[in-house]
Amino acid sequence: MSVSIAIVLAIPALAALYLLYRIIIITLHFRQLEEFSAGLAAGNLQRRLYLRGRHGFSRIVSNLSVVAALLEEKMRETDFLKRRTDQILKSIPSGIVVLDSKNRVRSANPVFEQMFHYRQITGKKGITEATNISSVNALIESARNENSGKTETYQVNSKYVETSVVPFSGDQEKYAGAVMIFRDVTGEKRIDEIRRDFVANVSHELKTPVTAIKGYVETLLDGALDNREDAVKFLNIVKFQSERMDQLVKDLITLSRIEFGAVPMEIAAVSLSGIVDGAASLFMEKANAKGLYIKKEIPGQCAEIQADPMRLTQIITNLLDNAIKYTDTGGVTIRAREDEHYRCVLTIQDTGIGVPKKFISRLGERFFRVDPSRSRELGGTGLGLAIVKHLVLAHGWKMNIDSEPGKGTTVRIYMP
Ligand SMILES: Nc1ncnc2c1ncn2[C@@H]1O[C@H](COP(=O)(O)OP(=O)(O)OP(=O)(O)O)[C@@H](O)[C@H]1O
Ligand SMILES: [Mg+2]
Repeated sequence: MSVSIAIVLAIPALAALYLLYRIIIITLHFRQLEEFSAGLAAGNLQRRLYLRGRHGFSRIVSNLSVVAALLEEKMRETDFLKRRTDQILKSIPSGIVVLDSKNRVRSANPVFEQMFHYRQITGKKGITEATNISSVNALIESARNENSGKTETYQVNSKYVETSVVPFSGDQEKYAGAVMIFRDVTGEKRIDEIRRDFVANVSHELKTPVTAIKGYVETLLDGALDNREDAVKFLNIVKFQSERMDQLVKDLITLSRIEFGAVPMEIAAVSLSGIVDGAASLFMEKANAKGLYIKKEIPGQCAEIQADPMRLTQIITNLLDNAIKYTDTGGVTIRAREDEHYRCVLTIQDTGIGVPKKFISRLGERFFRVDPSRSRELGGTGLGLAIVKHLVLAHGWKMNIDSEPGKGTTVRIYMP
């Protein structure tokens, strides 16, 4: 009897104990879960929690752990995509700026900062201050209003910058904005200008002799032919002008053949000394008439070089022509020497009128002449140095010109 009473009394006591145990476990799990979820909320996605048993809590916890793992993976992916986008923006050779819907700069790549010498633009409102382009806001506005890309080229100090704006929309206004692309097109503009100048120059250079020839031939036909003295004078002018035209056409053909690589280079071992002697002999008479000397100093090491003989002859002839033409007293020295970097450095130095510093970088531009009327009077077309420059490059050589007005000019050709 007493045993059965004890059993009857023990059952609720055990049940109460078990209940207490479960409450403690659940409270513990609840605490762990609370702590774990607080960690997740704080961004600690690497943490994982495993609860023993197959009760509801452990399923919630394992679901949360899966969510945390998925989130972590997504974050890693987003981070990778961001780094890749940054890398792409860095490697694009144009300046790039991303604006938000309120024209605030969200990001800018390093090329933009270098292009405009402006640091830390991110977060700034507008880009007028950074770019110094006052009308850039109007371009952004018009792109936004028409919801289409717009491009303009602006002059910024000495540069030309092609600026494009491409608006983009988002499902919310805060995600809308615009991408701006800045491209330095100074070089392209310059090539355009050179091309335009070239056409204008060729037309002008051809028009001058044609007008003179036409004028003198008409004068001759109108009766000057009957006066022998006048006729000879006028015919000599016609001859000079037609030779000039002939030379101009020849020079233009030479230039375009070199530029298009129409005639292959024929490199061989040539005697530099022999080529200099041959070219110098063409100018002896002219030099003697002006009382100028032509000196040559070519030592043994440079006696023989690798070059295309015809082209090397043209280089030396054109340079000697200038040296004699633009020198009134003294003369020309043609020197060749070895140096520590080059097998041979060829120098053509005159004691002539020289070239003002500001023009030195323009020597070699087609039709560039310091004094166009003087050069024309001397029969020049303004293409001599352009031809030299191209022939030097075709050999893989380098050329440098030093000059001082009143003292003379030195042209150096570096042959590796
Ligand atoms: N040695 C020099 N001394 C002074 N000025 C020079 C010298 N060489 C070139 N120049 C200047 O550079 C300009 C361009 O030279 P380039 O040889 O191209 O043309 P050019 O001599 O005028 O005509 P071309 O050579 O076609 O007959 C010349 O007009 C002259 O002003
Ligand atoms: Mg010349």
